[in-house]
Formats: sequence, structure tokens, C-alpha cells
Amino acid sequence: MHGEARVPGDKSMSHRSIMMGSLADGVTHVKGFLEAEDALATLQAFRDMGVQIEGPIDGCVTIHGVGKHALKAPQKELYSGNSGSSMRLLSGLLAGQPFNTVLTGDNSLSGRPMKRVTEPLAAMGAIIKTTEKGTAPLEITGRAVQLQGIDYNMPMASAQVKSCLLLAGMYAQGETSVTEPAPTRDHTERMLSGFLYPVKKQDNKVSITAEGKLTATDIDVPSDISSAAFFLVGASIAAGSDLLLKHVGINPTRTGVISILRLMGASIEILNERLVGGELVADLHVISKPLTGIAIPEDLVPLAIDEFPVLFIAAACAEGQTRLTGAEELRVKESDRIQVMAEGLQLLGVDAQATPDGMVIQGGRQIAGGVVASHGDHRIAMAFAIAGLRANAPITILDCANVNTSFPEFKDLAKKLGLDLNWQEN
Ligand code: S3P
Repeated sequence: MHGEARVPGDKSMSHRSIMMGSLADGVTHVKGFLEAEDALATLQAFRDMGVQIEGPIDGCVTIHGVGKHALKAPQKELYSGNSGSSMRLLSGLLAGQPFNTVLTGDNSLSGRPMKRVTEPLAAMGAIIKTTEKGTAPLEITGRAVQLQGIDYNMPMASAQVKSCLLLAGMYAQGETSVTEPAPTRDHTERMLSGFLYPVKKQDNKVSITAEGKLTATDIDVPSDISSAAFFLVGASIAAGSDLLLKHVGINPTRTGVISILRLMGASIEILNERLVGGELVADLHVISKPLTGIAIPEDLVPLAIDEFPVLFIAAACAEGQTRLTGAEELRVKESDRIQVMAEGLQLLGVDAQATPDGMVIQGGRQIAGGVVASHGDHRIAMAFAIAGLRANAPITILDCANVNTSFPEFKDLAKKLGLDLNWQEN
């Protein structure tokens, strides 16, 4: 893989920019917004609640904020598509509104656990109905002025749960605090501060109250390190590669993929590090290097939680054993990423064994060609595309339409940078 690229905007920040811009007083301009289905679902939800939003045009969005208390009841259900962030963050925000809402999602999202948000929200006084299995649709009875703050010890390391409760806390009486078992992405806290909303952080505890308002600001969304990750691995495993990825967000709660690849022997240089709107950004220079298998330190797991599909490909190319533990959360992502990746890797001749909380991969064997199922999971599809760089025959990946949820430009960019990719629309 050769060349220079700027991958699209960060998905987590794009969701949050719409949410906070909508609740702010004044007009917020967003640059670098991710024009992909997930972030667009959040954008549409706020349009459905009466917020005037212009764009996106070339990643620019203008949000005419209505303030914290002026969202309008939507005429219909709010559709979060494939996006857990959209649904889980919205559930907290909507629990404190003076109107009722219903949140729906696609098949994958409708199978994902929502009790992790509805239970703590119920403890705050929220009224939210799920299916018997604890899944969407979520029927939310608005409880304006009736939520109570809580002091919540989060049982899993989840930025979505943390963010959901902080957004609910903006409408609750007293203080809402969330303590996380390990650091997770902190874009919500940082962006709230950027909108001048008071948030307190002490060690692993974040606290918020209803005393505050959001003041419109301008947001420059950096490139998504989760999208850059496909090329970080691609250039590491394809001999002779030399790639520069520009303007990538390197918030320390997101850089687990760089740390893990470096532990495996990858050569990734962080250049031109700078602070853009309260978030660290840099250009990443990667050249190919032989990789070695490692035991992945568990403290890096939440910091690389979305990158494991492609990190498994790196492990398959690394000499020796790579062992991942403490990553049971991967089983409840857009697909069961442990099971689906293990099955796909085995099909390509890789010695990969799923475990309840991770995977053991004996790397270094020749990757074969074959037909793998992505189970409609965007990151599984892109990870197996990257495996093609080291396979001795074509890999066909089925069911790839959902790449559009996070990275619609993937196919063009991957081809431009050197991947021999043939994309067929269904
Ligand atoms: C996200 C948090 C993570 C991540 C997801 C985006 C966010 O989910 O996997 O892609 O925007 O807060 P969890 O909170 O379930 O770990």
C-alpha cells in the first residue's frame, strides 16, 4: 500500500456534534462530519425533533441549536439504523424530555443489549420499555423534571453507557456520576466542555448536573482512527508498503490499535501532533514490518475495542501466537465479532480459536482464498478485505452493504492505496 490519504471523520464525534449542537444555544458549524449512515441516522433524528440542520456538504454541517429544553416531539419513531451509539446516547437524552418517543433500529441493532442503559436509567426514574429480551424497540415515556441523579458504578467499560447517563444527567435533579472500570473514549466529556457545559472528572469518575447550558461552538472532527486502522494494518502486513494517513484523531482513549501494533513490531510514526478543538490529531506514517504475536495487554482492550476485527488479521500475519483476553464485549457489537472472525479466519486456513472472552491465533501460516460471511458487519467486511493483501487466492466477502454505515469511501480509498478490490453492489 502506497500513498497519502485522509480517511473520513470520526463516527463517535460526529454523533455527538449533532446531539450537542442541537441542544446548544446558537449556531454550531461542524467540519469533517462523517457522511455515513450511522451519523446520518442521528442527524435525521434531530431533524425529526424540529432542529434545523443544513448539510452535510463536503463534511460541513450547520446546526441551528434550539437550546436544552426545546426539542419537539417527533411525528414518528426515531430510527437509529445500525448504530448503537445513536440509540444508546439518545435513550438517555430522551428519558428527560417532556414528550414520548420510540427508538428503532435495523436487525443487528435490534438484537443488541439495551438493558445496560435502560436499567441505570430506570434507577434514575426513567420509564423505558424494551422487548422481553431487553432489546429495541425502546418505548420512552418522557419524564421532564422527574429524573434523579445517580452514582453509578458501570459494570462494563462502555463509553455508550457512560455517555447515555451523562446526557440523562443534564436533565436530572442532583448530581449524576458514572465510574468506569477502565478508561473508555471520552469524547462526550470533552465535547460538553467545548460547549461550555460543566462536567467534573476525578480519576475514573465523571459527574454532571442539570445546572448548565450548551453554548454553540465550531467543531473540527478529525479522521476516525477506527477507519485508519484498516490501513495501519494493511500497510504493516503488505511488504514494501509506505503510507501516510493525515489528520487522524489520536485521543489517548482511542489509540489502543497503535499501541498493540507497535507491541507486535509495527512501524507507526506519529507526526505533526497538534490539538484541534480539544482533541489530539496527528499524521500517521506506517511502513511494513514483520509482526510477531503477543499477549494483548487487557488494559488496551477498551482503547482498541472497534479495531479487533482488523487486529485479528494482523495477528494471522504475525509470527507466533497472539492471545486476546478480557474482550467479551466483542460478542455484542454489530455482530459477535469473536465468533464471526474466528469462523472467517478458519475458512481462510488460519489457526484461530475463539474463547469466551477473546481469541487465540497461531499466526504466520499462508492465508488462503475463500468466501467469507461478514454477517452485515462493516468492520468484519473491511477486515477481511485487508486480509486479501496477504492471501494467495481471492477472498470474496459477502454482505458488505453496511460498510456504508461507517466508511462509504473505503472501497475507493483502498483501491487508490493499492488494494486489488472488486466491489459488486447487490
Ligand atoms: C462508541 C463506544 C463503543 C464503540 C462504538 C462507539 C461511542 O461502544 O464500540 O463503536 O461512540 O461511544 P461501547 O460503549 O458499547 O463499548
